[in-house]
Amino acid sequence: MYRGVTGTRVPIYCMNTEIQIRPFSGNGETVAEDSEEADIDYASLASIYGRIWPRFPVDPGVLRKMDRRRLTLGPAVRQVAVVRGQPVALAEAFRSPYYAERGHFQVRVGAVPGYRDRATFARLSEALESALAPYDPTRLVTCASDNDAAALAFAYSQGYELFQRETEFGLYLPAFEPRPYVPKLEKPAAFGIEILPVAALAQDPHRDRRLWELDAELFSQIPGEQGSRPEFEPWREEVLERDDFLDEGSFVARDRKSGEYVGVTFLFAEEPKDATIELTGVRGSHRRMGLATALKLSSMIWGRETGLDRLYTYNDASNEPIRRLNESLGFEATFDWLMLHRLLDEEAAAVRASQGVNAALRSSTPTAATRTAAVA
Ligand SMILES: CC(C)(COP(=O)(O)OP(=O)(O)OC[C@H]1O[C@@H](n2cnc3c(N)ncnc32)[C@H](O)[C@@H]1OP(=O)(O)O)[C@@H](O)C(=O)NCCC(=O)NCCS
Repeated sequence: MYRGVTGTRVPIYCMNTEIQIRPFSGNGETVAEDSEEADIDYASLASIYGRIWPRFPVDPGVLRKMDRRRLTLGPAVRQVAVVRGQPVALAEAFRSPYYAERGHFQVRVGAVPGYRDRATFARLSEALESALAPYDPTRLVTCASDNDAAALAFAYSQGYELFQRETEFGLYLPAFEPRPYVPKLEKPAAFGIEILPVAALAQDPHRDRRLWELDAELFSQIPGEQGSRPEFEPWREEVLERDDFLDEGSFVARDRKSGEYVGVTFLFAEEPKDATIELTGVRGSHRRMGLATALKLSSMIWGRETGLDRLYTYNDASNEPIRRLNESLGFEATFDWLMLHRLLDEEAAAVRASQGVNAALRSSTPTAATRTAAVA
């Protein structure tokens, strides 16, 4: 579910001596306090975030809130590369409710076009790891797209190993015609199930806990997923309380009689007018009744009516059921995200290396790379 780092083609080893690496305001265990310096830092951070990761929100206030949320989970560090006072690249490490074990950090490294060189990434990564060292990291998790050979080469050179592949699917909503799908939308009713927007359940005092329980149960059933079960509060902050969470476009399948929540799909806004479905799942007791199809269709119809442009969704490359479902709704596979991690526990890394796990995974990685996603 998590996508970490993004970028583009990397001209190998072009050292830019003008670049200074420095910590970002509020590194460590506290978010930058309201101060003129912090305001300037967040404004300049926002100005490059959107250029590095075009689908990411670029508002300084949103970034600040994101940092506050991250810091409720543990320490977070960020280093920026600056040229003549202007940030051009960044590296950050932070905790996630889905990788909640102490010592596990998600890592992102990115640069604006013109500064995506390997030497800058190497200097940023080194600075990041020095800043992270006091917090005893044991596992660093990041990702890169499979058509970005340079980013992957850099990640592998840093000791990252592949542990999961996720396929990204896209759908152009203005071209989506809902009428042929009406029978699929009506199917859940025949099983006594109603499909409701998350926003419409606001009156249910147990809504958030029910959604959390469902999410945690389903997350553990996603093939290939290696994250941990999130705690309630961090999960609520990460999902329901996030600024980009679309509660009108996220849907719940609810049993009419018992009121039980049996399926869900969560939608998040992306820039400029796009959205991503981050989880679709249905309880084991209610599968093959068309619920996931109706849930996803509901988000698609809502997105189309709201004027969204592209809709994205991801699934583990081995998750045949959801891949079939996505394709039946018109989603097209674009590329794979490679989820990479680096185990800092030397013993564990040695065991893996001796088993040849990494070598086997690497040999399955496409090498025809054109696009960079993760370390860039
Ligand atoms: C994947 C999942 C969401 C499907 O939910 P569902 O409500 O059973 O799906 P639907 O009934 O709408 O199925 C729609 C189509 O998907 C495909 N499909 C669903 N389950 C399948 C399975 N076990 N094997 C093969 N194809 C399957 C079929 O094409 C099916 O159409 P059909 O029943 O007419 O053959 C559900 O299995 C699940 O929650 N899995 C665990 C969580 C997960 O992996 N989520 C996806 C990643 S976020």
